[in-house]
Amino acid sequence: MARVFSGIQPTGEVHLGNYLGAIVNWVRDLDVDDSTFCVVDLHAITIPQDPGILRSKSRNLTALLIACGIDPERCTLFVQSHVPEHAQLAWIMQSVVSYGELGRMTQFKDKSDQHDFVSAGLFTYPALQAADILLYDTEKVPVGADQKQHIELCRDAAERFNRRFAADDDPVFVVPVHSTPAAGARVMDLQNPTKKMSKSLDSPQGTVLVLDEPKAVEKKFKRAVTDSEAVVRYAPDDPDKAGVTNLLSILSAVTGADPDSLAGKYEQYGPLKADCAAAVIEHVVPIQQRYAELVDDPAELDRLIAAGAAKAHAKAAEVLARAERAIGLGAH
Ligand code: TYM
Repeated sequence: MARVFSGIQPTGEVHLGNYLGAIVNWVRDLDVDDSTFCVVDLHAITIPQDPGILRSKSRNLTALLIACGIDPERCTLFVQSHVPEHAQLAWIMQSVVSYGELGRMTQFKDKSDQHDFVSAGLFTYPALQAADILLYDTEKVPVGADQKQHIELCRDAAERFNRRFAADDDPVFVVPVHSTPAAGARVMDLQNPTKKMSKSLDSPQGTVLVLDEPKAVEKKFKRAVTDSEAVVRYAPDDPDKAGVTNLLSILSAVTGADPDSLAGKYEQYGPLKADCAAAVIEHVVPIQQRYAELVDDPAELDRLIAAGAAKAHAKAAEVLARAERAIGLGAH
């Protein structure tokens, strides 16, 4: 049983990239691993947010994760700001990672280009992410490919902290590894298949949402950009085949079949697109039904959210105290 931790931001809408790159893999291993999942609202405020919308998005995302199968009875599911140890350990981790390391993060470069106001929090974001992971003695972090660099930084920070503040045979932090799925680690935008599917709103037709109506899912796949060669081929290294390769990857992630053998089943793009849409719809419709039930019962949702925070806090407090003792902080 591995200790697992992962997180998702309550910004934008949950899309097929989040679902196939992360959430389905979290659900799959719920009974195998000791898992903790977090709605990372502290990360969300690194870019401007409306307070009321942020609060409701954090609740709704928690409900959606439960609807996707993140059963709070079989794991710990909570909202980051409800567990203060995240912000506390983040400050310590900001003193362990370097300015140079943070400046090399490609997500910071991308996001800071998109905003006029670049907060200091956007820059130190990976230190908070490292704190999230380290607070639960995490061994494995299931994420999409875009998070690899942040997990590498977390590993480096944990190793550096242990070297500086702990005996070799009694480390303070567990050094985690990331895990990405064989299919679905990088779901691309259906309209612009050389760009990853993302929560930013600039490509609504290229972004399939978990809460999209079946008709919208069908339409988005039908209009997915492919190429003029009209040959169904899985070619991850060929930018000309990016659209078809993305469709085959999505179908592979949803059905579990190998993308090369899936390619052999199709002679035209139309049926491939239709099958992608059908497979995705089959997954999302039951999620949408459960989600509607959950948001319809706010008292029960509040109870689950509070119970998740209490469970997370118990573990996080223990690890924060260990880190503070090692570094000479706190009244321990
Ligand atoms: P976020 O909210 O951007 O994304 C949540 C998860 O979805 C994955 N993902 C994708 N996977 C495949 N294809 C895509 N197009 C795609 N887009 C997103 C992400 O890789 C991620 O696994 N910084 C993190 C949240 C976080 C976190 C953590 C993750 C905060 N603390 C600790 C792991 C551990 C983020 O912004 O994810």
